[in-house]
Amino acid sequence: MRRNIVAGNWKSNKSFNDADELITDIAEGLREFDTIDVDVIVCPPFPYLELIGDAAEDVEFFVGAQNVSKFEDGAYTGEVSARMLSSMNIDYCIVGHSERRKYFYETNQDVAEKVNRLLAENIAPIVCVGELLEDREAEKHFEVIRSQVEEGLFHLNENDIQRVIIAYEPVWAIGTGKTATKEQAQEIHAFIRNLLAEKYSDDIAQEISILYGGSCNAKNARDLFAQTDVDGGLIGGAALKSEDFIEIAKSF
Ligand code: PGA
Repeated sequence: MRRNIVAGNWKSNKSFNDADELITDIAEGLREFDTIDVDVIVCPPFPYLELIGDAAEDVEFFVGAQNVSKFEDGAYTGEVSARMLSSMNIDYCIVGHSERRKYFYETNQDVAEKVNRLLAENIAPIVCVGELLEDREAEKHFEVIRSQVEEGLFHLNENDIQRVIIAYEPVWAIGTGKTATKEQAQEIHAFIRNLLAEKYSDDIAQEISILYGGSCNAKNARDLFAQTDVDGGLIGGAALKSEDFIEIAKSF
């Protein structure tokens, strides 16, 4: 059965000391509640992975990266390979976040290559899809999401697709305070699950966690997570405040 997941995406935020303080507070909060119903993942910037990994040794949560190189180890200055992440016991990695697509021109093809690198190193990709405001206004959102899912993931076989987590993040909702309604989220999550069922099988589609991201916070998480096809959240801004993040993790 698919897992409930709450993943915090710290993006490019926090000094080393601030990161230390935040993870200490998050670990404290997690220690006080039973995380049996939810997998909590913290995705800090690369330089803090070890720090966060150390904190995860005595409290039950997982560590994720926010990006990975599409290349193997080698002469690729500035890149971090999947093998490096795996050698640091990283369990998850965000791929294809809309900010990477926008500012670093990542394509669905890049996403597919990164997914392959991660799976080869036994790291679970958290693959982000989502439409721009103009796509939604032009009623092209289903089309956009279909091509992101198909081109980024449908080369995978039946086993590998089940190792992937998908995050639906409407770009107009990210960091804007404009959360998708629970109905809008459910509609797209069901659409994605249906794409998976058509390509693979209904049983396989039922095994894949689909997270919602975009101004998800301690107030709206419960309603969103109560939707049949919403299996948790990828949290940006609210993941930078320990109390809010813990509250969201308790929202199932
Ligand atoms: P937000 O970001 O929660 O700040 O909207 C979510 C994300 O970009 O993953």
